[in-house]
Amino acid sequence: MEINNLLELFRLHFQRSEGGEIVVFAPGRINLIGEHTDYNGGLVMPLALQLGTYIVAAPNDQKSFHFYASNFNESYVHPLGADTLLGNRNWQKYPMGLLDRFVKHYGWPQTGWDMLFYGDLPLSAGLSSSASVEMATAVMLNEIYHTSIPMIDLVQAARESENQYVGVDCGILDMFASGMGRLKHCLVLDCNTLDFETVPFDLQDYTLWIMNTRVKRGLAGSKYNERVAECKEALRDLNSILPKSFLCSYTPQEFEQVGRVISREVTYKRARHVIYENQRVKDAAEALVSSDLHLLGQLMYQSHDSLSKDYEVSCEELDFLVDFCRQSSVVAGGRMTGAGFGGCAIALVKMEAEKDFIDALAKAYNQKFGFEASFFAAKAGNGASRLF
Ligand code: GLA
Repeated sequence: MEINNLLELFRLHFQRSEGGEIVVFAPGRINLIGEHTDYNGGLVMPLALQLGTYIVAAPNDQKSFHFYASNFNESYVHPLGADTLLGNRNWQKYPMGLLDRFVKHYGWPQTGWDMLFYGDLPLSAGLSSSASVEMATAVMLNEIYHTSIPMIDLVQAARESENQYVGVDCGILDMFASGMGRLKHCLVLDCNTLDFETVPFDLQDYTLWIMNTRVKRGLAGSKYNERVAECKEALRDLNSILPKSFLCSYTPQEFEQVGRVISREVTYKRARHVIYENQRVKDAAEALVSSDLHLLGQLMYQSHDSLSKDYEVSCEELDFLVDFCRQSSVVAGGRMTGAGFGGCAIALVKMEAEKDFIDALAKAYNQKFGFEASFFAAKAGNGASRLF
């Protein structure tokens, strides 16, 4: 949405006159490859999207924070000084988790604030709409408190908020991409050291399509935390003969030598996915740099199969989309992206044939499942910032 329209919506909703507004934006992300490696000390390869969350805010004279989620037409009022755990429900928990951190560090601000949230990302689709709300809130609070906290520290704060306040044991992938994304680039991030490179996102005559199953990620939080726990268990077993800090510290060769020490078959499979996926990120980064889109595509298919069979986070709808891609000569590669359990897949599609391909896939999906998937082309955008 245009900034002027957002400002108008803000003034209308809060019945305010013009003046004193701050506008921030934080994007969602897709991950090209490197899934479920971030909380295992590994590599990821995300790009920030040009869709995400906007917040418009201005001080009020009511001694309270007035949050308005315009997408849901819902409000939440939090008085200055009230227990910050009060807002620990539904969508409010994302901004409240960050507010809680700022209050604990810097106390309450002098005045209350009106805040309007507007998002243009599909929700619960695995495109990090929640991380974009958290990052937008972090950037806005940095303005409100005049704290000049560097972006990388806001990224860490948002991740800690998701872990401790929201209760999902996620890694840093989503917040990092949302905070540090770069226009027309993707990032190759080491989630252990936080060292990263930006790689031009040049797909030559291909377009990266996002294919949304429109299957909401039900129970995602609890199944996600279960995967995190399974990885910890596998690491404990591996440590009994070859001690290392993270699953991603093991090479595939080392895993082949010592992996059988992992006592449960299910945790063995989880570790196998993570360790080979980490290697695939290294290979994919090289493939993108050397413009080998065929190799990049093959790695994406391998990643999907591993997530589906070893990590068991895919679903029928995601598998259908990726299998359809595999049968087409105009697609270089495809895979699910994000945590899984529904949400989105991505595919590298030859530009000259993309319209026909997407039309055929949309039709086949609808026939198979009786509801529509949605499709849009991904563009790599900048990370979170103040816009106004
Ligand atoms: C979710 C989490 C990330 C990451 C991905 C899977 O998006 O928030 O930290 O683990 O799943 O790669």
